[in-house]
Amino acid sequence: MERLERERLTIDMRRCMAEGPELAGLESANLTSHMLDMLKPRLEEARGAVLAAKGKGMLGWMDLPWEDPQPLLDFAKEKEGKFDALLVIGIGGSALGTIALSRALLPLFYNELCPAERGYRPRLYVLDNVDPDETAALLRRLPLERTLVNVTSKSGTTSESMASFLVVKECLDAAVGKRQAAEHLVFITDPGENALRRIGERLSVPIFALPSGVGGRFSVLSVVGLLPAAITGMDVEGLLAGARDMAEWIASTEGWENPACAYAGVHYLEDTSLGRCVSVMMPYSARLRDMADWYRQLWAESLGKEVDRQGRVVNVGPLPVKALGVTDQHSQLQLYAEGPDDKVITFLGVKEFGETVIIPRPGPEAESLAYLGGHSLAELMWAEQEATAWALYKKGRPSLTITLPRVDAFSVGALIYMLEVATAIAGELYDVNAFDQPGVEMSKQATYALLGRPGYEDLAKELKEGMAGRAQAG
Ligand code: PA5
Repeated sequence: MERLERERLTIDMRRCMAEGPELAGLESANLTSHMLDMLKPRLEEARGAVLAAKGKGMLGWMDLPWEDPQPLLDFAKEKEGKFDALLVIGIGGSALGTIALSRALLPLFYNELCPAERGYRPRLYVLDNVDPDETAALLRRLPLERTLVNVTSKSGTTSESMASFLVVKECLDAAVGKRQAAEHLVFITDPGENALRRIGERLSVPIFALPSGVGGRFSVLSVVGLLPAAITGMDVEGLLAGARDMAEWIASTEGWENPACAYAGVHYLEDTSLGRCVSVMMPYSARLRDMADWYRQLWAESLGKEVDRQGRVVNVGPLPVKALGVTDQHSQLQLYAEGPDDKVITFLGVKEFGETVIIPRPGPEAESLAYLGGHSLAELMWAEQEATAWALYKKGRPSLTITLPRVDAFSVGALIYMLEVATAIAGELYDVNAFDQPGVEMSKQATYALLGRPGYEDLAKELKEGMAGRAQAG
């Protein structure tokens, strides 16, 4: 067992409970100890099922923290100093992890730093949309002759990523010549045969294989997230160490003391017993902003399902929403405090920020601002987080608080692993397959049909008839 060298994150669910001292005299429809006790055996059963399936089937991602990162670290080393930009092409689970990691672990405003400040590592761009304005603008901006293009697609067929790749490849060929283009490319895809792999093999592009049992939204701790992380100088070993430590914690701790069980259990109970089906992830840290976006996909695609594992129609799934503290106190908080009582807020806080910024004392003309002077911005951030959680609780609106000791690779790796396991446990509680996404597949196929892909003629006909019908009705 790995020796615990680092402070762990904490998860505090007291503000989900109906029995807190702050609630004296208030009516509150929050969780009771009895409700927690009643769920505990099922929660343990769910944890047991997830741990028993570790590394098997679609739970291959649970073993990722123990994968050897050396091959991707070697690749990153070999590319050192050769590129000024890294362009990651991917969508959904093939992009959101990289976006979240880069925001959390690279210096803020990384792309605006000069080469020496970036350690001569490349700027990072992620193309996860097919908006023509964005793509054309990015292609004008990229120094293609000094750009490494990392195409990630598990299936190797996703229309958006493949279209972006084809567009970028044509520009790359024009900029560096077809022969040189392969040296500017690296692919990540399934080990099986697919279009991206075929292209890669024909062009002799280096190809990293996704380990089996790793779905897109569970892939951030695989080569998918770790290769761009290594190339831009993030602490890959630290991420994996944090995830391993969390795995050990989850394996060794029972029931509500277990962070993944607590997260999954609270959300499940709030949804199914108290009708709170909206899960707001609200980081109080600019660095953690995009973790909320990554989480949104993880929770939504995994738990939003039409049928349960017996095939019965259930149409379940909590709605994940991202918010940012403190910014969204001036945008969303009014709704959270007084709108429909259908939300559980997760405050994602940090104990220690990287920088200390002290608010200067204002002059006598601004006496009313004197209370700010001398405090640090971190104190203001913490006060606002605490004040918001307290005010919501007083209104009977539940929240969880996850606190990271600091935003570093260890804590981020632990947080990611905890939320992934929590998702798998929630899948057990809802009794749905958390690892497929049939609702996404349908729209993928309809896109193929609309663009004339052979084999989709009947679907194309159905779609065109539907569109014509709607136009007539309009
Ligand atoms: O989580 C998922 O499985 C999806 O979001 C996929 O990552 C997304 O659809 C992209 O698929 P692919 O990586 O096959 O291109």
